[in-house]
Amino acid sequence: MRVETMKLISKRELIPSLYELVCEGDLVSEIVMSGQFVDIKVPRADLVLRRPISICSVDKEKKQMTLIIRASGNGTQSICETKVGDSLDVLGPCGKGFPIDFLKKGQHVLLIGGGIGIPPLFELAKQLSLNGLKLTFVFGFQSKNQIFYQNEFEALGDVFISTDDGSHGIKGSVETILNSDHFNEEADAIYACGPKGLNRMVNHRYSKHPHAYISLEERMACGIGACAACVCDKDDRSGTNLKVCEDGPVFKCGEVIV
Ligand SMILES: Cc1cc2nc3c(=O)[nH]c(=O)nc-3n(C[C@H](O)[C@H](O)[C@H](O)COP(=O)(O)OP(=O)(O)OC[C@H]3O[C@@H](n4cnc5c(N)ncnc54)[C@H](O)[C@@H]3O)c2cc1C
Ligand code: FES
Repeated sequence: MRVETMKLISKRELIPSLYELVCEGDLVSEIVMSGQFVDIKVPRADLVLRRPISICSVDKEKKQMTLIIRASGNGTQSICETKVGDSLDVLGPCGKGFPIDFLKKGQHVLLIGGGIGIPPLFELAKQLSLNGLKLTFVFGFQSKNQIFYQNEFEALGDVFISTDDGSHGIKGSVETILNSDHFNEEADAIYACGPKGLNRMVNHRYSKHPHAYISLEERMACGIGACAACVCDKDDRSGTNLKVCEDGPVFKCGEVIV
């Protein structure tokens, strides 16, 4: 893990208020697992806390990583206003990502995502596809105009989409898709990242699955295990806390209370 001044190589607005940023720097060579994140300093003196952002895609040869950021508040808005050619102060790579070593070529993997939880699943899907796994994606969005990276994921596997308002795909949530008669949810591994409701549903639904994992996007402060702002409780009645930034953000389903 290091703090580095990374150069912003490109930026494009995928849908309103959602930006794809490509950053370049040596830090990229230290990324070891998909699902890890970086902690970005907001380029505003009055906002002192770094903002955690998942690594969406990695190109180690070019020393570049892609981030997808929703400008949802003052911090992310300010980060997204950075101009191409300017620099960003980045801490990372942080956290533990998605384990994949147990999977074998030809096995089936289910990836479940919602909204801004979808980006970390992209590098994971690239790695799984390279390893010859069969991928099924189940993604939920608020509406058709919030959908992003559909073509990119369709190049890697079968994509099923739900929207809250029914403007694209199945009307409802990702759970509506998982519950539908024709959907095959049998999988050798399951990975998910999304808003709290989605993570909670997946955490419960697959708590007995031997290889089901969720990535939590808790509020964070230091991002490196030093402050305990991000703790969650272990689901074993021990009263033990885990730090999402250091022990996660990826946890086995059933391991923590979401
Ligand atoms: C491990 C991790 C990975 C993340 N990856 C991404 C990513 O790839 N892309 C992305 O756009 N965002 C991601 N987030 C969420 C992002 O960090 C927050 O949206 C950001 O910190 C909000 O800061 P702000 O100053 O813009 O907004 P604030 O003014 O602080 O808040 C604006 C809105 O964001 C919500 N918010 C604040 N912190 C979080 C949080 N940690 N998680 C979810 N919602 C939050 C608030 O409830 C509020 O509605 C991630 C968070 C974590 C912990
Ligand atoms: S954010 Fe400080 S310990 Fe996790």
